[in-house]
Amino acid sequence: MTAESPLPVQVVDTMEHLDGRHPGYRRAHARGACFTGTFTPTGEAAKYTTAAHLTGGPVSATVRYSNGSGNPAVPDTQPGGRGMATKFHLADGTATDLIGVNLPRFLVATPEQFLDLVRALAADKDAGTDDKANLQAFLARNPGSVPAFQAAADLGVPASFGTTYYKALHAFVWVNADGDRQAVRYRWEPALGVQKLDADQIANEDEQFLLGEFADRLKGGPISFTLFVTLADPSDPTNDATKVWPEDRPEIEVGTLTITGEVSDQAHWAAQIFDPTNLTPGIELSDDPLPNLRHSAYSVSYDRRSHGE
Ligand code: HEM
Repeated sequence: MTAESPLPVQVVDTMEHLDGRHPGYRRAHARGACFTGTFTPTGEAAKYTTAAHLTGGPVSATVRYSNGSGNPAVPDTQPGGRGMATKFHLADGTATDLIGVNLPRFLVATPEQFLDLVRALAADKDAGTDDKANLQAFLARNPGSVPAFQAAADLGVPASFGTTYYKALHAFVWVNADGDRQAVRYRWEPALGVQKLDADQIANEDEQFLLGEFADRLKGGPISFTLFVTLADPSDPTNDATKVWPEDRPEIEVGTLTITGEVSDQAHWAAQIFDPTNLTPGIELSDDPLPNLRHSAYSVSYDRRSHGE
């Protein structure tokens, strides 16, 4: 009898079962490409955090846009999650990451629920039926996941990676020069506004249009996103990404990311890792248990893909 694998390994193994094993690719968000730009803070965050990239002068950034599936061949014309992973390059030679998706809330609150969910999805795949009986049973066991699945069902197909919002979903804690702590959630708003394709437009699009569309659009000028954070009230949950905070919470405009072109070396950047726990002084993890699971799962995926598996 072999010992049971650690939970992050079980998670990644199950993700591979679900989306297939695609050597060299990320086990989620497999198809993507990297772009380069500059982030310019407004200065408004300085009251709440000492984080260098959010309070000082402009910093360069590398941004990876991606589709959510671990299968790089899933068509862009299929509705689904889209990702925006940003690496801010700091003056001291380090970097810090901010990872978002086009969802208002996450699907689960805990690592155990995530494993339960991917196992349910894998069981439905194995059953080969359309009734999604295992997912329905998961949702009955985990009613807190239902709103995120309803939101996911409404995602549609964005007209561009530049025409959807992206949220980091977890709460992070900002710490200022006095040591005061403030829980925040991040949101990127596209300067182009939110635009989705209608059924006719989807039917006329190439199956893999999104990355080419973004690169072509950049030839006509930069594409921008504004970074906002919502400031939590002390009563707001910080340990459960399935729960949104009340709409009247204050927001601050943190800065603008201006994307100017593709990175010169896609292969180099494809091989990097964007990790939600790669933070910088002035930003800390909250009591949300998922970022640490993500750190471990991303490491398992990174280890496999960087060994050609
Ligand atoms: C427990 C929950 C989660 C698990 C187990 C998980 C797992 C993974 C894995 C294995 C990868 C591939 C990592 C790599 O090879 O570099 C990945 C990538 C990614 N995930 Fe997650 N994920 C989770 C939650 C989330 C959440 C909440 C978000 C959004 C806020 C998110 C957004 C992304 C994005 C955008 C990427 C692509 C990053 C890149 O471009 O390098 N994931 N995820």
